[in-house]
Formats: sequence, C-alpha cells, structure tokens
Amino acid sequence: MTPAYRISSFADYQTAYEKSITQPEEFWADVAQQFQWSKPWTKVLEWNFKAPAVNWFTDGKLNITENCLDRHLNTIGDKAAIIWEPNNPQENTQTISFTALHQRVCALANALLNLGIKRGDRVCLYMGMIPELEIAVLACARIGAIHSVIFGGFSAKSIVDRVQDTQAIAIITCDGAYRGAKEIPLKAVVDEALQECDSVKKVLVFTRTKCAVNMLAGRDYSWEQELEKVAASGKTTCPAAQMDSEDPLFILYTSGSTGKPKGVVHTCGGYMVWTAYTFVNVFQVEDEDIHFCTADIGWVTGHSYIIYGPLLAGTTSLMFEGIPTWPDAGRFWEIIAKHRVSILYTSPTAIRGLMSHGLEPITGKDLSSLRVLGSVGEPINEEAWHWYDEHIGKGKCPIVDTWWQTETGGIMISNLAGITPAKPSYATLPLPGVQPVLMDGSGQKMLGNSVSGNLCIQFPWPGMIRTTWGDHERCRMSYFDTYPKLYFTGDGCLRDEQGFFRITGRVDDVLNVSGHRLGTAELENAINMQEHVAESAVVPFPHDLKGQGIYAFVVLKEGIPPSDAERAAIHICITENIGPIAKPDKIQFVSGLPKTRSGKIMRRILRKIAEGEMEHLGDTTTLLDPGIVEAIKTGAKNL
Ligand code: WT7
Repeated sequence: MTPAYRISSFADYQTAYEKSITQPEEFWADVAQQFQWSKPWTKVLEWNFKAPAVNWFTDGKLNITENCLDRHLNTIGDKAAIIWEPNNPQENTQTISFTALHQRVCALANALLNLGIKRGDRVCLYMGMIPELEIAVLACARIGAIHSVIFGGFSAKSIVDRVQDTQAIAIITCDGAYRGAKEIPLKAVVDEALQECDSVKKVLVFTRTKCAVNMLAGRDYSWEQELEKVAASGKTTCPAAQMDSEDPLFILYTSGSTGKPKGVVHTCGGYMVWTAYTFVNVFQVEDEDIHFCTADIGWVTGHSYIIYGPLLAGTTSLMFEGIPTWPDAGRFWEIIAKHRVSILYTSPTAIRGLMSHGLEPITGKDLSSLRVLGSVGEPINEEAWHWYDEHIGKGKCPIVDTWWQTETGGIMISNLAGITPAKPSYATLPLPGVQPVLMDGSGQKMLGNSVSGNLCIQFPWPGMIRTTWGDHERCRMSYFDTYPKLYFTGDGCLRDEQGFFRITGRVDDVLNVSGHRLGTAELENAINMQEHVAESAVVPFPHDLKGQGIYAFVVLKEGIPPSDAERAAIHICITENIGPIAKPDKIQFVSGLPKTRSGKIMRRILRKIAEGEMEHLGDTTTLLDPGIVEAIKTGAKNL
C-alpha cells in the first residue's frame, strides 16, 4: 500500500526536491493523482502573494472523507483506523476499523443534516479527546460543513470569541471530559458561552462522563438520541458532498502578535494532499505502523497527524484521552508497550516533563516496537533530544524534528526518518515543495550558508493558509506584508554551514509556552480586564520545562497596593478570559512601564530583564523616563 510518492532514499529526496522546484505543477499533479477526485482539476496552481490569492487544483472536486475512508474500504476495511486509549487505564480501549469509522461518520453526518446543518455552515466542536471528536470532525467534512475545533481547555470567553467570529450555527460538545484526575464540565462552559452567541441554533451533546447537564429544549440535542433516529430511518450511508478543491475545510484559531486569535482557513484539496504527503514521507510510514501523536485535536497537530494524515495514508492512529503524568509518569510508556506503538510524535515540553521524573517510570516498559520518534511545536534543546534518543529510542530510532505552523497545514522543514540526516536541535532540510529563505534586518535575502535571519517561504505549497476567516486583509498584513512576495513565518532561523535549518524561536510578539502559541496583546488584554490593573506588558522568559514562561509586568491603579490577592485576581482573570494554560509564571508589580516618548512600550528592555540580563539593556536614552528601568530591575531581582 506504499504510495508512489513515498521517498525512499536520500537521492530520491534530492530528485523530488529538485522537481518540486523546477516543475512544481507536474510534481504536485503526480501526487494529487493518487487521490480520489470526482472531477479533475483544470489548473494545478494559480497564485500571487500580494493579494494573497492561492488556488491549488482549481475546479477539482472531492470530499476528503472519501479519501480518508471510502477509498480504503475494499482493501483495509477491517484494519484499525483508531485505537483509543482512555484517560483511566482501568477503562477499556476501543478499536475502530476503517469500515466501522465510515459507518459512524455517515451516521453522524445524517444526524447533522437532520438538525438542519448544511454545506458551508460553520460548526464549532468543544469536546474531549474521544473518538467522537474525530467522528464529528469527519461528519462535518462529509457534508461540507466547516469545522472549527476549540481546545477543551479554553474558557467560555474563548468560545464566545470563536463562535462570534465564525457565526457558527451549531456546537458539538460533551457533557464533560476527563483529564488526569480532573473531570471538566464542558457542556456547562458551553452554556455560559451561549449567553453571548446568537448565531448558535443547535447544540449536540455526547455523553462521556454522565455528569448532570442542562438541556434547553429546541436548542440542545442528545447525540445518542439523534443517532437512534438516524438508525430508525434505515439510512446507513451518507453521500459525501462534492467540494470544490478551494472550499474551506476548517477554521482553526491561533494567536498572533496583535489582537484576538485569528481563524486560519485551510481548504479541501491542497490540505488533503499536503497532510498525506508530509505524513507518509516524514515518518516513512509502513502498513503495520501504529502512530501515536500525543497532541490534542484542539491544535493543528491533532488535525493533521491524528486525524487526516493517518486516515489518508490508511495508517492506524492511536488517540489518547489523558495526560502524560496520570496516574503516573509512565503512562506514555505503558501505552506504547500495550499497543506496540511504532511511531511516537510528541512535544519537547512533554519530553522535558517526563525527563524530570527520571528513568524509573520507563524501567521494565517494553518500548521495542518503536521505530520512529518525532518532535513538534517548539525548539527541542539538545539535552532533551539526547534523552529522547537514548532512553526512548534506545539509540535505534531516527528522531524527526518537524518545524511547521497552524498556517502551514503540515510539516515544512524536517528530516525524513532514516532517509535524510538528523542533527540535534535542527529541523534540518525543507520538504519537497518548500522554498525557505532567510531575510536580514534590511529586508535583503541572505544567500549562502552560515547565516541567520527571519524565516520566509517564497513559493506556495498545497497546505498553506488561504485566508483568515472574515478578514482577508488581516491575513495579508500578518503574513504577506512584512516582505514583498514572501510568506513571513514570524520565526527566526539559522542556516548552518551544511545548509541545515535551525529554528531559533519567534521574532514577533508571540510566546510559545509548552508548544502553545499565545500573543502578548491577547495576554495583556486579559490581564487589563482585572479591575485593579492600570496597564501591563507581557514578555517571555526561558523556562526549564515549558520552553518559554510568561512574565507579566503589571501597573496597578492609583492607590492599590501590590499583594498576593491582586496576583490571584489576575490569575482568575486570565483563566476566565483565555484558559489556565495562559496563567503567568511571574507577575511583577511595577510603578510604570518603560516607554518611548511616543508611548510605545519597549519590550526589548523588559525581555532582557525577564531573562535576568540586568547590565546590557541596549539604548535606553529614548525612554520617556529612564529612571523607571532601575526600579524595574530592583523589583525583578527581589521577585
Ligand atoms: C510555532 C507554530 C507545528 C504545529 C504545532 C504548533 C514553533 C513549531 C517547531 C520546531 C522549533 C517550532 C515555531 C512556529 N515551532 N515546530 N520543530 N522547532 N520551533 O503550531 O501553534 O501554529 O506554532 O511553533 O515558533 O512558528 P503553532
């Protein structure tokens, strides 16, 4: 079943890369032909980065779920598509074959149609990590509704922002979710959010925890009852809506350097080709693989490498409901041994977290099934890389360090497992179709090796962002305006003497906390909602486990003395407005912020202080009140 586009040697990689640059249309047409289209495309690629306007496989018609499911039924129908491992190890595992998944997706798709959900409608999903979340994603795609998954750890306010922005007409949720020792009342959070969401007409509720829920007649429907109605109707299949290649498939919100999170839009044809191509090649997927991606489906990693990539490739995907450290820090290793996992794809934060528990949780766990290890979401430090290599891969598994973004849809720069060389802390080489360039401070392209600059991409790839939902200008401004004719990633990057790429981190006002993106503007807005706060500035600082921690400098209103109570109130405010993942690690109360005469906060200085650098703060003469810096430094030392 190995697809024809699987690269099988370094020479093969070089040939593919070369062709993807010199003949991109021929190259991607060959790949796209391996999929099922109900109508062929007329043009492989039309693009300009000025607008931006990017169309892949113009006029082609398809449904991604036919490619994920129907296409496999005659060959691997009985193979496991999903192995689901529950939060609580005492509870039973579920195995869902491609045939069974197809049936369940069709059934739910019919239920959604019965509820009046139509092609093009937006549907928000706020659920835990259960197979029904994947089924709901696919059921939306089946009928051509645009799914927007909201991470189950986000607050009611975050749901309001996303529902209002998408104007979703329905929400699919659960009564509750399990996460480690916690039980989270998801439906109650949705109820709170819906007080401010007029667009939502239907709420579908799956029963997971059996906690008490309020059901509003005429708005709230039980998943189980709706499926009973479908079963009673005798319908066992659901025709797949034939989508235009460039119709939106999903919207996923992600933080930027300004304002509220933006809805990144991915479209059907290009995203399908990109996720399948990158999945197969980076992990060098084989028929028997059991692929365990530990991300949450609330993030793009889960979309592309728990759901779509594996299904498209006909690979068994292991989905885990829980957390790495509950009931104990051996949970991942136990799952790998139990299910004979062959590919583990996780984050540097998870690796560092598990490292901190020592080797005891690994002792006696059979990890011999592992073949490939992957890392994603943030730079991996060398210490974590070597620990992963030695103690998890036992020196025998290639580690792929995969650099990409919500906006890129799939992996962009990474070694290919066992095919192209790895180098600790380097994402290494671009995938075929990816043309990275580094830009210097004066906006010039940096040629040659041993250089570092801002990472841009100079040619479209099939999985790239098409727009930001409801605001195309914001997409243009965020990604295509900094450098003419280039997509700007927001990341800094080094190209070493061999031409290998190493991502050095964000160069914009975006933090990467445990692999989660948070904008400083978004964090500051949430902090400023606390009634005693006058203003605030947030910067990252190096954090041993999370990669970056959140450091907030806060000015309280006149007459309010700093106290632990104010600190606690800020934490509550952040949790209510964004979610617990956004809680600051450090809050320093200051009497003022370093500002230029024009009133701009000089974050550069605050960043240095947060990093513990007190001496070389750069030029402070342009500050309105240079004295403020001394006071902040003293405060930081005493924090
Ligand atoms: C940002 C994107 C990639 C999907 C999950 C996160 C950082 C991502 C790496 C890596 C160094 C990385 C970048 C990027 N990042 N992967 N392998 N090495 N940095 O997606 O939330 O859109 O965040 O994560 O800074 O811009 P995201």
